[in-house]
Amino acid sequence: MTHTLSIRRPDDWHLHLRDGAMMRAVLPETTRHFARAIIMPNLVPPVVTAQDARAYRNRILAALPDGSTFQPLMTLYLTEQTDPQDVAAAFADGLIHAVKLYPAGATTNSDSGVKTLRRVYRVLEKMAQIGLPLCIHGEVTTPEVDIFDREQVFLDTVLAPLRADIPELKITLEHITTSHGINYVSDAPGDIAGTITTHHLMINRNHMLVGGIRPHYYCLPIVKRASHQMALRKAATSGNPRFFLGTDSAPHVDGAKESACGCAGVFSATNTMSCLAHVFEEEGALDTLEAFTSLNGPARYGLPPNEARITLEKRTTPTAYPAKFDTEDGPLTLFDPATPLHWHVT
Ligand code: DOR
Ligand code: ZN
Repeated sequence: MTHTLSIRRPDDWHLHLRDGAMMRAVLPETTRHFARAIIMPNLVPPVVTAQDARAYRNRILAALPDGSTFQPLMTLYLTEQTDPQDVAAAFADGLIHAVKLYPAGATTNSDSGVKTLRRVYRVLEKMAQIGLPLCIHGEVTTPEVDIFDREQVFLDTVLAPLRADIPELKITLEHITTSHGINYVSDAPGDIAGTITTHHLMINRNHMLVGGIRPHYYCLPIVKRASHQMALRKAATSGNPRFFLGTDSAPHVDGAKESACGCAGVFSATNTMSCLAHVFEEEGALDTLEAFTSLNGPARYGLPPNEARITLEKRTTPTAYPAKFDTEDGPLTLFDPATPLHWHVT
């Protein structure tokens, strides 16, 4: 049995850092293990222009813990007003690494998202031309579609037609939560990949709803039934280069989660690597952990893998992670993996 594992330092290909006090609280939790992260642009107001992204990047760099070499990989929030030239210039400058498509109303702070995809085709065509990836929150938001079916319906009614119209567009289907999403990304021709979160590998909707409603497991896309969780585990541990880690670690203070209308988001930055080692060991696939966390993502984004390494060590005593963090905005609850975590990161 493996008790220690040395892997290249991981990257997080989907992270919410927020801003201000919350950013200062959560940034060290990511930089402790991760070298780089794709930074989500859904601030209020969102990060829409190159100028916004540059300013946000500077705020992140200024808040880094002393000595940290963490690199924030910036994204722009796609709106129907986005200027293709601004996007292209930001990519040429090395400032941005992706553009993010939120269908309007899909999730936290997505009001300025895209209502009519055709209105952003000029931007998408430009991106296809220059090789800039589009990160997609793949859910439809039409009220008649059941929340558990939003991803599957998106694949059929939005993603497939978009890819037929602009086949050269590089796409990352983010936080895949269903076997439909996994099958789509595995089999589709062309330049497509997908990220999978830590929490969707560890929990299914029973964890969220059986024996009481657990608001800290509420996220979007919502956790699905166990058979989908199994499909995600199979894909993540397969070594298939199309799949890699995007934690979607998304902090909200307890007051916003434990509410009559709670926010979507799971904060998992701190214990993600312990959780993943746990999952990969359960799946008998510790040998593919490095591909998922540290190799497939950089390859996809045209970046070298990190030279630095981390060591994961399996200990008899479970690792003690704090249940909560104090932030200037209020307490923040860490993802509860619903099982003891014996893998310790050094
Ligand atoms: O659960 C989520 N939280 N899903 C998202 O897509 C957004 C995120 C957030 O920003 O809180
Ligand atoms: Zn997200």
